[in-house]
Amino acid sequence: METRFVTCMESEDKTCLKEAGQILKAGGLVAFPTETVYGLGGDALNPSSSKRIYEAKGRPSDNPLIVHICKWEDIYRIVSDAPEHADMLVRAKKLADVFWPGPLTMILPKSEIVPAETTGGLSTVAVRFPSHKTAQALIAEAGGYVAAPSANTSGKPSPTLAKYVAEDMNGRIDMIVDGGEVGIGLESTIVDLTVEPPEILRPGYITREMLAEVLGTVETDITILSDKSGQAPKAPGMKYRHYAPKGELTIVSGNVDGVVTYVNEKLKEAKALGKKTGVIATDETAAFYQADAVKSAGKRSDELTVAKRLYTILREFDDEDVELMYSEAFAEAGIGQAVMNRLLKAAGHHVIEV
Ligand code: TXA
Ligand code: MG
Repeated sequence: METRFVTCMESEDKTCLKEAGQILKAGGLVAFPTETVYGLGGDALNPSSSKRIYEAKGRPSDNPLIVHICKWEDIYRIVSDAPEHADMLVRAKKLADVFWPGPLTMILPKSEIVPAETTGGLSTVAVRFPSHKTAQALIAEAGGYVAAPSANTSGKPSPTLAKYVAEDMNGRIDMIVDGGEVGIGLESTIVDLTVEPPEILRPGYITREMLAEVLGTVETDITILSDKSGQAPKAPGMKYRHYAPKGELTIVSGNVDGVVTYVNEKLKEAKALGKKTGVIATDETAAFYQADAVKSAGKRSDELTVAKRLYTILREFDDEDVELMYSEAFAEAGIGQAVMNRLLKAAGHHVIEV
């Protein structure tokens, strides 16, 4: 299959998306930018589109997809209207009033029209209304319901640029819409509204504190920052080794001097063995490391930049065939918890405390 590559910036006229909408309506696949990461879209109400998404990503079919909408009212067709679920929808509306459109995904009981292929056989559906103008226009052109996982091959970091989508998806999908670099760089926050109190299944830009201001108590799935509970994560996708670079990654945590000394020792050993090395550092520390590739994720205090840089750095290490990587640990305030969650998964929870 030949993959068409079109450019459509957020500020531009959206007629470029007419064809993308036609492709989606006909059961094809189109990758597109959102404010979090690039998504790999298919018609959410067409079971064969969802099957094609799983094939293109090489993703296990028990891992459900997020259904993207482009206006609040459209949620009513895809979620259950049973009286016993009414409270959940009330909560969803409260959150939507504050956070939609935006980087928040809500889990709700699904209606009949959402195929089992889209929800990985679950009776619930994940719904998100993205704020990215190109994404919104594409969803509208496609008929209102676009299933879209991140547009990476299963197991690789989510794409922050169209060129990374092309690396993974060229020849596997019908079209890639290039909208430049994404804004946030990590996937949306997922909150499960089918449980009381609501629970965060994946941390992101919208934090627990922000959700709790609207809903009262909100909990966090304990598997998010530790693998010690022995429990499986509640979002099926979070159980897979995800966001993983090709090389081996270790997080080194502790005071800055101790971390730099430890990492430089390890780098020396690795170099003696002829291994290509990399370090994920910060602006404050990058100059101190003696690796083949030292990449700063930004200022230590600027967790938004760190979030935006993380997947790009992991992809760059892959492109440069780095075999052994060390990363500093980052503060867990705000989106920092999402950064550490993804970093821990990329490192297979391999952390050294110095
Ligand atoms: O920011 C995002 O959310 C991006 C952009 C493209 O919108 N999408 C994204 O999709 O990250 P994906 O498929 O890569 O991640 C979806 C996650 C998976 O971990 C999946 O298991 C979980 O959402 N999920 C989807 N439906 C669910 C459900 N009904 N119950 C629990 N978890 C669900
Ligand atoms: Mg993903």
